[in-house]
Amino acid sequence: MKNGFKYDVDAIRAQFPACKLEIAGAPIAYLDGPGGTQIPQLVLDAMVGYMVNDNANEDGNFRASTMARYTEETARAAVADFLGCEVQEVGFSMASTQNSYNLALNLSKTFKPGDELIITEIDHRCNSAPWMSLKRLGCVVKTVRLDPVTQQLDFEDFKSKLSDKTKVVAVNWASNALGTITDVKKFIDLAHEYGAFTVVDAVHYSAHRPVDVKAIGTDALLCSPYKWFGPHSGVIYLKKEYIASLDFNNTMCDDIAKGGRRFHMGTPQYETLAGITAAVNFIAAEGEKYAEYFEDELKGLTGRRRNIVAGVLAMDTHEMELAKKLRMGLRAIPGVTVYGPAEGQPRTPTVSFTMEGYAPEQVTEVFGSKGINSWHGDFYAVEAVAALGLAESGGLIRLGMAPYCTESDIDRVLNTVAELARNR
Ligand SMILES: Cc1ncc(COP(=O)(O)O)c(C=O)c1O
Repeated sequence: MKNGFKYDVDAIRAQFPACKLEIAGAPIAYLDGPGGTQIPQLVLDAMVGYMVNDNANEDGNFRASTMARYTEETARAAVADFLGCEVQEVGFSMASTQNSYNLALNLSKTFKPGDELIITEIDHRCNSAPWMSLKRLGCVVKTVRLDPVTQQLDFEDFKSKLSDKTKVVAVNWASNALGTITDVKKFIDLAHEYGAFTVVDAVHYSAHRPVDVKAIGTDALLCSPYKWFGPHSGVIYLKKEYIASLDFNNTMCDDIAKGGRRFHMGTPQYETLAGITAAVNFIAAEGEKYAEYFEDELKGLTGRRRNIVAGVLAMDTHEMELAKKLRMGLRAIPGVTVYGPAEGQPRTPTVSFTMEGYAPEQVTEVFGSKGINSWHGDFYAVEAVAALGLAESGGLIRLGMAPYCTESDIDRVLNTVAELARNR
């Protein structure tokens, strides 16, 4: 990044109607981003615009129907730019968990008892439960260990679990509980040496770092637009050879020409797709403002893809600064333990902690009363929280950065935690 970068947080806040809302006389501090971000006006307008002007099912001989088809194809093109893949490799549904189960259902049609599936202890259940469910077919599920000290996946343990029976390796790119970023390419490359199919959960990662599916070489990848300013929905990238060859449960499963559409079960949520396109365009518009500061990172990229990458990098730079301030501030408060990888290790701007004398839900309740949105518990990263020995004590308190978060939000958190620590 070039010197002189300054992120204009007021300009981005002005685009989010939710940033005008107040609780207890102060703007709401939206630190609940890892659970879902707020929605800019542009995205709201696109969804309402579709429902008012273009509301129809596709493939009919009338204008709205043509527009419904256009809405779907536009969304597929936008997501292809977001992920760095081809248009026909993008599928949609209502959530990543739904895509993950659908993938497991379709992929497992050729599995037999004794086939092995590898999941990890750092995963959200979205990326592990569908594979665990295949134990019913006699498949063997192996779980890669999370090192509780480094709070990173144990690659040696992964190596030891691979075999010529491994059919699937499902790995998380960034932990929604700890912020840990995994070098997924290393896992994918090795998995492919054993002929395994790879799936990456990029739901948390894609909200903070640019995704380039071709660079990591995975066979499938999951992400959810509601984590990056879009409506509640899930996106799957599936390498085109699998789009063409898998036996999908679908009413139009024979039509290979339909590409990523083969993955859909029934009529798509067109209004949602309109919102997804607008969310990608929103990120790209942000990127256009800041691209000059990221020339090195953007080398070789053009058009909307270039702006998307610039947008994600610009927002993440701001978020990482806030997260660092938060981590440092929390560590200075007696009785607070901050989780996640060591400083300097790859991570997202998501900060999780516990407080002596308080259950996590007591802390988030106080936050909530002051207009600070946060989460507590395991966030469906059940195994990670258990590996850290926190399952019985209520898990973690989690604060995640989004581009509309401010230094003042962080100050409010630190003042509240300091007050709780004094009153313990
Ligand atoms: C890392 C991660 N994976 C998967 C999911 C599940 O996504 P969805 O709600 O779209 O099924 C989440 C949601 O919080 C997540 O953070």
